[in-house]
Amino acid sequence: MSVRVLATTPLPGGALEALGARFPDLRIAPFRSPAWVAARAKAEALLVLLSEPLDGTDLAAAPNLKVVGTYSVGTNHLPLDACRARGIAVVNTPGVLTDATADLALALLLAVTRRLREGEALVRGGQWTGWAPDQLLGTGLAGKTCGILGAGPIGRAFARRVWALGMRPAFWDREGRGDTVPFGPGEAPRLPLDDLLRRSAVLSLHCPLTDQTRNLLDREALERLPPGAVLLNTARGGILDEDAVLDLLRSGRLGGAGMDVYQCEPAIRPGWRDAPRAVLLPHLGSATAETRKAMADLLCEGVTAVLSTRC
Ligand code: DGY
Repeated sequence: MSVRVLATTPLPGGALEALGARFPDLRIAPFRSPAWVAARAKAEALLVLLSEPLDGTDLAAAPNLKVVGTYSVGTNHLPLDACRARGIAVVNTPGVLTDATADLALALLLAVTRRLREGEALVRGGQWTGWAPDQLLGTGLAGKTCGILGAGPIGRAFARRVWALGMRPAFWDREGRGDTVPFGPGEAPRLPLDDLLRRSAVLSLHCPLTDQTRNLLDREALERLPPGAVLLNTARGGILDEDAVLDLLRSGRLGGAGMDVYQCEPAIRPGWRDAPRAVLLPHLGSATAETRKAMADLLCEGVTAVLSTRC
């Protein structure tokens, strides 16, 4: 039987081609282009990126649909309830991007606290006149508490990294079971959110965007952070109130922010462009060659498994 796989873009490595060879025929058409819309009507597998939200209308327009695959670990852009109701499988890419994302959060932490952006600009701009005792002083991390929202694999991988810097990781997560979270070399306390916020010199987001975490860090919550705290978001925009973050950066209440994701990305609030003490990245969490290939492999394996059993 012919199985139609509809993807929106080529993926790194050969996994997508192999999927097309196994289940002819495979179409690649830009998301929501006329060709994509036409092919959707016959598709048995829809493959999308995290920036390509599907809704119930897409499912209704695809009567043969058996599986929705996303080239991401996050699934907040998918109609999960509608998929469940129709028995459509959802395949994502957990596990393979854990280290890459935790590495990027660490890079943001060091970039913000050690003022890498300003230092680089000084050198590149030809304005560096020499070493000085008070030049671009940053903030040390050892001995300070690093609050981590989300005790899943990425949150725990980030805990290992900050632990190696001499920080004290502490967690909040949605389930909140147990007093501690094992993260490899040790166990860290699992705290109520308010408690965690009040203690965190650094707060890093590693939870998915769900109804429970949407706007979790509103202005009131952000104001509970200690003065000078540093905020990192490599999870999803929408978990925190970016307008409040911008106000708190401008007033000096927040010590810095490292942002990889934004509520309306790729559009960003104009305020980010001149936000002080902020390092801004374009959603690079999983962006290593190895990881992106592993994500393609895992996604295509998952889609293959579904199509093989349901055809
Ligand atoms: C994901 O896969 O959901 C990540 O946001 C990629 O960086």
